[in-house]
Amino acid sequence: MGKVRVIAVANQKGGVGKTTTAINLSACLAEAGKKVLIIDADPQGNTTSGLGLEKNQIDKTVYEVMLEESKIEDIIQKTCVEKLYVAPSNINLSGAEIELIGREKREHILSNAIKKIKNKYDFIIIDCPPSLNLITINSLTAANTVLVPIQCEYFALEGLEQLLHTIGLVKKILNPSLEIEGVVFTMYDARTNLSMEVVEEVKKDLGENVYKTIIPRNVRLGEAPSHGLPIILYDGRSKGAESYRLLAEEVIQKEWS
Ligand SMILES: Nc1ncnc2c1ncn2[C@@H]1O[C@H](COP(=O)(O)OP(=O)(O)OP(=O)(O)O)[C@@H](O)[C@H]1O
Ligand SMILES: [Mg+2]
Repeated sequence: MGKVRVIAVANQKGGVGKTTTAINLSACLAEAGKKVLIIDADPQGNTTSGLGLEKNQIDKTVYEVMLEESKIEDIIQKTCVEKLYVAPSNINLSGAEIELIGREKREHILSNAIKKIKNKYDFIIIDCPPSLNLITINSLTAANTVLVPIQCEYFALEGLEQLLHTIGLVKKILNPSLEIEGVVFTMYDARTNLSMEVVEEVKKDLGENVYKTIIPRNVRLGEAPSHGLPIILYDGRSKGAESYRLLAEEVIQKEWS
């Protein structure tokens, strides 16, 4: 097994496709033979339920890991995809930030928690919440790279500057080796000029950091989580499945020193 890559999927803007990307990129990486851990770092627990787990019936979650009451290896569960494992979350995690007030090195808790298990995986994908809170900071501190999903709509670029500023701060103070993995466009609608304009504008700004694969708006992608399945198991031949397979290939190709 090569060196693990820890990728945080982050954008403080809500509903841009973070969880859809985290679940389906992870599933496609596993399908390609990689061993993958997905960490649900969002109290909404959408990654957890999207992989078919009953989030409200789980005893130990990322919350216990953040409070250093459980080791991460004791909360990790198998999923419906071979080689894909999940560290689940639920609403409990929303209490962590307050409980950690004043704790020393509280930005490094997740990073420390995964240290010992890192080398059991090829990829660790972290699904971040839609805010720049302590959990997101922990995720960025634990990560090698940040993958930023951007929804192809009018306000897409709003908040991007703040996200890049936060990434810069984390790099400077907490995690000097943090890099931008890339931007991935989601919910692209080829019928609208707007989608195309958003893509062009971001490419102008971020150039080489933009993934070639663009995720289309696809009804099947929207339906899959309510069946507790990633797209490759829900409808493996859909456009959504095809595009996340291509994204996974691109991610695998990208080498990091
Ligand atoms: N490519 C797509 N085609 C169709 N629907 C999509 C696509 N990507 C995401 N969706 C749907 O859009 C909604 C928001 O997506 P998702 O939950 O992945 O975003 P998010 O950024 O994780 O949201 P949050 O900020 O709340 O965590 C969901 O209902 C999801 O099923
Ligand atoms: Mg989400």
